[in-house]
Formats: sequence, C-alpha cells, structure tokens
Amino acid sequence: MTIDVPAPADTSNTPFGRDLTRRGLALALANTTDMAPTTLRVPLHYYRDEKLAEIEETQVLRRTPLPLLASAQIPQPDDYTVRTVLDDSLLITRDPDGVAHVLLNYCRHRGAMPACGSGNARRFTCPYHAWVYDNTGRLRGIPGKAGFDDLDRSTHGLVELPSEERHGFIWAVLDADAPFDLDTHLGSFDAELARWNYQDFQYHEERFLESTVSWKGALEAFAEGYHFPFVHGNSVIGQNTIANTHVYDEYGPHHRIGFPFNWITDLADGEPDESWDDPGQYMGVIYWVYPNLILANSPVGVEVIDILPAGAATKCTVRHSWMARFPATTGEQTELYDGIFAQVHAAVRDEDFAMLPQCGEGVRRGQHDHMVIGRNEIGVQHMIRVMAERLGVALR
Ligand code: FES
Ligand SMILES: [Fe+2]
Repeated sequence: MTIDVPAPADTSNTPFGRDLTRRGLALALANTTDMAPTTLRVPLHYYRDEKLAEIEETQVLRRTPLPLLASAQIPQPDDYTVRTVLDDSLLITRDPDGVAHVLLNYCRHRGAMPACGSGNARRFTCPYHAWVYDNTGRLRGIPGKAGFDDLDRSTHGLVELPSEERHGFIWAVLDADAPFDLDTHLGSFDAELARWNYQDFQYHEERFLESTVSWKGALEAFAEGYHFPFVHGNSVIGQNTIANTHVYDEYGPHHRIGFPFNWITDLADGEPDESWDDPGQYMGVIYWVYPNLILANSPVGVEVIDILPAGAATKCTVRHSWMARFPATTGEQTELYDGIFAQVHAAVRDEDFAMLPQCGEGVRRGQHDHMVIGRNEIGVQHMIRVMAERLGVALR
C-alpha cells in the first residue's frame, strides 16, 4: 500500500477522525512530522521581560475569554467553587436556574471575601459584617440595615464578569469592562471543540503546581513530542507515543496536535475501518486553547492543564485537572480513574515540571541572543507567533 505524506495543514476545516488517523499513519510510516517552513528565532526577552509580562497580563490575559472552569466541576444548581486566577479571587456559581456566573469574590461593603472553598449554597455571608449575597451576586441582606438605609442594594451586588458556558467550560474575561465575544474568540475552533462533548464529561480531580519557568515556556512543553523520549522515556508517554511526530492543524490562534501512538503502524496493511474514525484510539489529541489552556485527550478522559503567570515573568502556576469521558458509576471505576490521573499527573509534575525550571534558569541567566525553535516544533512556533504578535515582539 502506498501512502503519501500529507503537507502540513494550515486550514481550519480539516476532517476529523479517519483523515486524522490516515495522516498520523502516513507520518509514522515515513518517520517524519508536519513541519514549519523554517526555524524560528525567539529573543530571550520574550520570556523574561517584566514589562512585557505586565502588558501580557493587562492587555492579553485579562481581556481574552479564558476557560476558567470545567462545567462539570459545578454540575448541579447552587454548586459553587472559589478559584484564584491571576490573583483575583473568583466565586464561580451555578444559580437555581442552572446558569453559571463568574463573580469577583470581594464584598461591596469593605472588601472581605464572602465565599471560600467549594460546595452547594444559595447564599454567601461575608465573614466581616455578615452582608449576604445570593449565587447570582445580588446583595440580599445587611445586618443593622438602618446604618445603610440610603444605600441602593440593587447596585451593590458582587461584581459579575462577562461570561458564557460553552463546550463544557465556563469562559470569562477578568476585566469587567472588557468586551466579551466568544464566537469571535473561537472562530472555527468552536466546531472542533464541539466534537468532544466535554459538557458530558465528569469532573474528577485537580492538583496545583508552581514552577520557576515562564508560563509561555511551560505551555510550549505541551506543543511538541520532540522531548518525549528524553523526558518521558520511562513513563507511558514516552513508551506509547512516537517521538517527534505531530499531526498539526491551526484554528486561528488555537491549535490541535495529534501525537500518534506506536500501534498506529499496525494499520499499515489493513483497510480503514470504523476504528479509524476515533482518533483517540491511535493518537493523543492535544489542543492549545489560546492563550492558556491545554486539553490533552485520551480514549477515557481529558487532562485540563491551565497555566498562568504567577507575579513574575518566569514564574507560573499550573492547575492540572482531569475529567472522565464516561462518568464513573462504580467505586471500582472511580479507583481506575484515580490511578489514571495519578499517572498522568506524575508525568507532568515529575517529568515536564522537573525539566522546565531549567529553561526558566536559561531564560533568566542566558546571555545568548535568542532561542531557536525547530521546524519540527511547529506547534511551539505557532504559540510564539500568536503571542509575539499580540505583544508587538519582533521575531526573525
Ligand atoms: S466587608 Fe463584607 S460585610 Fe463588611
Ligand atoms: Fe512533556
């Protein structure tokens, strides 16, 4: 059977399933990868300049719709959770009608934080003077109300950020005055995300890490399989996945990479059948949801990896969570998922994030002019081009 190696894709309407499997197989058999036309030079200040980090936060991260939380994390009416994002405390709720809200968790009296942790509640009482808010943010109660008898309660609820729930995530912009347009933000990626039905997944667990590496550098670790045999050689990623092989597609600022598994080459002599239509059988499909989220799909679930700067250009926080594609119905299944998450989390923590602080050090201390990103690191090149364009950084 003759297999042509397809050209790197740059369009948004690439067929899913069978075609993705076909492309992965062709690359695996030819021992090559989708590639960028040239190498890319990146000045070190792209990663380490604190002024740039400030622009990045105020102009990009706080004004772009971020998928802040998986819907599955607050599935029921009145569920809520508090999350800190770029130092803002956010109270994310689902109201009695099932509508999600993203509220700034700062009391309108004198700023204390009405909610903490997560659970199921309709009302939140501020710990300082016990003002009460409902889970849409409305101010519902003030002790000693005579002291505030000239206050218009209707304009003193918790500040709500523009948000929308779609494809299993609650998206919001952190700047309350920023425009919010998820259709424009997602563009052709909207249909791609819709294929996975993340809204039907079941939230399982999350863990947090901090690391002394640029948040951009950390995200780049999830956009190439060039490092797999060296960093993940002893774990399932390195053992199951063909190194340095990427089936690559762009969707505006977002991208998808298929990382073929070793067994995809078993398909070489057979005729395509239905199994080809589920790309999860033959490759790890990883998305970069611009600007800060990685979705790493496996046949049983998805890793949700959210990476943001932590107060300095070369410090980041990582929130690693996992959702099951098929909700667990037995204790045995939950245990199985625990094991899967423990394994994938260990790979991220003990392999990627054992390595990445070295890159942070190289960026902070290096005296070379630029880094160089290979033609094979096509997804990394894309991340850098998108962010550099937003930040006005010239690339050569
Ligand atoms: S600060 Fe919240 S009630 Fe006073
Ligand atoms: Fe990795």
